[in-house]
Amino acid sequence: MAFTRMDQLTADMDEIRVIGDALAKRQAAMPEVIRGMLGELASHLDGFPVDQLEHSIQTATRAERAGASEEVIVASLCHDIGKAVSDVNHAAISAEILRPYVSTETYEIIHAHQDFQGKYIYAFMGKDPDARERYADRPWYRLACRFSDAWDQAAFDPDYDSYPLAHFEPMIDRVFASPRQGAQS
Ligand SMILES: [Fe+2]
Repeated sequence: MAFTRMDQLTADMDEIRVIGDALAKRQAAMPEVIRGMLGELASHLDGFPVDQLEHSIQTATRAERAGASEEVIVASLCHDIGKAVSDVNHAAISAEILRPYVSTETYEIIHAHQDFQGKYIYAFMGKDPDARERYADRPWYRLACRFSDAWDQAAFDPDYDSYPLAHFEPMIDRVFASPRQGAQS
């Protein structure tokens, strides 16, 4: 039985299983979606010394060399992936893409990372360069400072010996393999 409105669906319909299977198959392709969005960043130079893909790879390389966990390395690689959609709210977009696959702490760090980068740029934008201080009591504050100060803001060096993107491919596959249990919202 076909349906044309969602209010025609009932729990015993085959369509429910068909939709569930199809959505699970689509979700399993998430690593490919991530690769596509990262590839898009290669066309974003926007006046910076390196494009946004190299910036992302360099941030992740710095995180790995500093001993970060695999999840944080992949989050570092994807922290600006939202720029493939929109620059102005990219931090929230990146964080929401990561959210089903990472810890709450990692999600919060990526969600707030613009305010931490604000230390270096907000003064030029008429905003508070100390905006990060509103998060000072959060358990992830120190790691967010490290992410911003040692990895993100420093990752615009054309001469830095970043790992190739291929180095991170297995990590992308593992972190985005499947959403965490109950990660729906
Ligand atoms: Fe960044």
